[in-house]
Amino acid sequence: MTLEEERDAFIRAAGKGGFYAFAPGRGNLIGEHIDYSGGTVAPVTIGAGCFCAAIPADGLIARNLSGERHDGQQLLSPDVSLPVDALFSHGDTLLAPERVRGLLSANESWAGLLFGAVYVLLEERLLARAQLKGMRFLIRSDVPIGAGLSSSAALEVSGLAAASACLGITLSGKELARLAQRVEHALRGVPCGRMDQSAAALGKEREVLALDCSTWETRSLALPKGWSPLFVHTGIPRSLATSAYAERRAACERGLRKLNAAREKKGERSSAALCALSPEEFASLPDAGLSAEEERRCRHAIDEQSRVRRFIAELRRKKRPEVLGSLLFASHRSLRDLYEVSCPELDALVEIARGIGISGGVAGARLQGAGFGGCAVLLIESSRVEEVSQRVSEEYRRTGKRCSFHAGSSPGSVAFGTHPLGGEDDVARLK
Ligand code: GLA
Repeated sequence: MTLEEERDAFIRAAGKGGFYAFAPGRGNLIGEHIDYSGGTVAPVTIGAGCFCAAIPADGLIARNLSGERHDGQQLLSPDVSLPVDALFSHGDTLLAPERVRGLLSANESWAGLLFGAVYVLLEERLLARAQLKGMRFLIRSDVPIGAGLSSSAALEVSGLAAASACLGITLSGKELARLAQRVEHALRGVPCGRMDQSAAALGKEREVLALDCSTWETRSLALPKGWSPLFVHTGIPRSLATSAYAERRAACERGLRKLNAAREKKGERSSAALCALSPEEFASLPDAGLSAEEERRCRHAIDEQSRVRRFIAELRRKKRPEVLGSLLFASHRSLRDLYEVSCPELDALVEIARGIGISGGVAGARLQGAGFGGCAVLLIESSRVEEVSQRVSEEYRRTGKRCSFHAGSSPGSVAFGTHPLGGEDDVARLK
């Protein structure tokens, strides 16, 4: 089915009287594990996403239509429901996030995130209890789960956009991204940065979104003509990702505190973010008292930020694929050796990509997303996508595993197209 056919089928199933929104999944070209350290990242939207409809109803109800078969028969998941009252302790007092987390995790996780979107609108006082009778959500997503392509962000952003439109609340793309990030923090307990939700809400089709995670400034950039990202899924679902993720973030925060203390001792101003420090400034603080682990994590973040700068400068000027590709390989080395978020399968894919090389149509590769499984991103010649996919798949099969491919939505890619959610224009009234 084309995206338009998917959308029409979804609208027919949703019925009348509400709003629907679409948000894409995201892949990341470079800038890994630095969004929560105030770094600049370079994600793209992918050719898959999530439709979400929100229709006024009694109580909170959610249905997942993602299992619908293309022959028109539906493999419906049962409805998941929750009374609005369950979000409140007594009177109009909203439950604390930890209590609501327990309550929602009893539901299917996708439904918990949708109800979580309503919770966050209440928590932020964008919605009063008296205004909320309830809402029926329907979703249909083809973003692979556990692949590091941000299926949750697509769900949260489309859910928030549809719900807020249905309630008459106007939110900008940035606000949607911020609230979707809050859903992750409050309701999943995942201390993620802002890259995934921003890419889902602000990413443009066929463009790289250069996003400064300190200021939330964005700039759209084009890849070299004839080159595209290809996302290759190791087939290994991300495991241990949440606890290891939180540990990585905490090490960077501890590191920054120590580095700042050392700067202040030298009479220098403290830095608002780890990624605001240059590699030279970092090198000038050898006695900051970082543990070996903190030193590796901080070094990765600071070096990765400088790789992103070079990547963006190259995209703005010469656009040489071999320069962009070598930055991807360097990023992978750092994520593997300093940040320690790779796994043998991701390393194998990156080595296969290196073996194919630029003469075979691959400029560079690295793990992308949180790591520990999920997808690698390859920068490939768009016209050779089939040839490259076949080679990667054959060589990867020799490791005893199978991989799958997801196209990035960039010039010449095989993506079926996305409609990134940028605000009101992208939210259409149901027929
Ligand atoms: C996950 C998080 C993001 C980001 C990446 C790593 O996708 O949700 O905020 O930190 O990992 O770059």
